[in-house]
Amino acid sequence: MKTIDIHIKIGFCQLDELSAEDQKLVQAAIKATDNSYSPYSNFRVGAAILLADGSIVLGANQENAAFPSGLCAERTAIFAAQAQRPDQAILCLAIAARSAEGLLSEPVTPCGSCRQVMTEIEDRYKRPMRVLLYGTNGVYVMDSVKDLMPLSFVSENLHG
Ligand code: THU
Repeated sequence: MKTIDIHIKIGFCQLDELSAEDQKLVQAAIKATDNSYSPYSNFRVGAAILLADGSIVLGANQENAAFPSGLCAERTAIFAAQAQRPDQAILCLAIAARSAEGLLSEPVTPCGSCRQVMTEIEDRYKRPMRVLLYGTNGVYVMDSVKDLMPLSFVSENLHG
């Protein structure tokens, strides 16, 4: 049996080492945690998306008494952006989260369903989407969703 080595690249730095544009997006994601509706988990997640025209779209997790009816912050932001500005590619997505104790120290990472939706964005616009995952200890920086989701399922897989 052969082995297939898959290489992923994840940068790690402090918030103030990011470009001004990236810092602004992360700060927007931190602020968006205020918009979380999470009475069941008390886990407040904020997302901020940079569109190709430079505008920013926010998202925050929205929970429901019927648990599966809720949605993660990343998908509320992506779907809102797609519903309002489908002409705009998404260049970057930042997320941050806080619990009752405050902002998470380790970078918050997207769930599998959000990674799948993020993968579709790159497939749709045929360009990479950068990803910034914030924690007070530092930020994970990815140049593409492919670094979060190797061997992903995309539209071309539907056609063999
Ligand atoms: N959640 C997000 O919004 N994004 C993530 O990346 C992880 C989890 C939400 C879903 C749920 O409202 C709460 O966090 C606890 O899982």
